[in-house]
Amino acid sequence: VLPTKAVIIEVGPRDGLQNEKSFVPTDIKNKFIEQLKSSGVTEMELTSFVSPKWVPQMQDAAEIVLVNSSDTYRNIVLAPNRKGVERALETGCKAIAVFVGVSNSFNKKNINKTTRESMEELKPIIAELKATNVFVRACISTSFYCPFEGKIAEEDTIALCKEFAQSGVDELSVADTIGMAAPTESFSLFSKLKKQLPEVLLTAHFHDTRKMALANIYAALEAGIDRFDTSAGGLGGCPFAPGATGNVATEDVVYMLERMGIETGIHLDELVKAIDIIAPSISRKIETGYYQLAKAK
Ligand code: HMG
Ligand code: MG
Repeated sequence: VLPTKAVIIEVGPRDGLQNEKSFVPTDIKNKFIEQLKSSGVTEMELTSFVSPKWVPQMQDAAEIVLVNSSDTYRNIVLAPNRKGVERALETGCKAIAVFVGVSNSFNKKNINKTTRESMEELKPIIAELKATNVFVRACISTSFYCPFEGKIAEEDTIALCKEFAQSGVDELSVADTIGMAAPTESFSLFSKLKKQLPEVLLTAHFHDTRKMALANIYAALEAGIDRFDTSAGGLGGCPFAPGATGNVATEDVVYMLERMGIETGIHLDELVKAIDIIAPSISRKIETGYYQLAKAK
């Protein structure tokens, strides 16, 4: 049975912008975030506390959080290590996403540590965060395929997810980093995770590199998933995953879900206004179906 409601976790301000080469002014980012909230988004990745040398676009993380600290939305920030978590806590963040790749080669490229080293660093941090009531999300990269290692064994992804669940995280965002999963693989992994990890929120994070994200979301819905990471305008991609392109577009997912009778709480007209705010500041042309049609009117 499909759900009657789904939660959209907007990742545009973070995943959507992190790979943009020219710096998007902080006030534009904040206007984008504000309009996304006006469209009905209630959970959002705002920015990341990563090295400004590695990801210059995210250097204004503290300023973004400051403007967005005093409301009731789930304002999520990413942090890869203790330094990132400390910077996030200094600005008063109450929801932190850590991120690790199932694939060692990818984790090395992305965080300069092996998967094991990252886990050993993160586990005590997660315990500390939970002791102070911070919402902890864990983003699991290369859950299906890795740009360096190819296919990832399903049991390796499940094992890492279990380890995170045991360490106390509230949510797992399971990611198809380079948009290579097939719907059968989406259904298989999410069905198993749903059965084996009933205690955590399970979220699917699909990149649309091969235009299979909507099909993968449908398969995940059938496996019982009702939380999806999406990016307004389909922006996005990890700078350290060669070939990674945009996340699945929020407008396309909202359109599909609403047409299926699954409520998202997001107003498409207001979402289009959010894309209008960010479009002039990015290098990519926004070519998602829903946005193009809205603009052609
Ligand atoms: P490193 O160079 O190994 O770091 O980078 P280090 O520990 O050796 O420290 C070097 C310097 O960086 C030191 O400063 C540290 O203080 C500083 P110095 O003494 O030279 O002045 N430093 C930091 N500064 C700010 N914030 C920090 C931080 N940590 C150390 N958090 C590091 C290691 C993890 C920092 C680096 O590799 C990094 O920033 N990686 C982030 C990569 C990234 O942002 N990737 C994209 C997000 S993940 C993603 O997109 C996937 C996802 O969407 C899901 C999916 O689709 O798969 C989530
Ligand atoms: Mg991503």
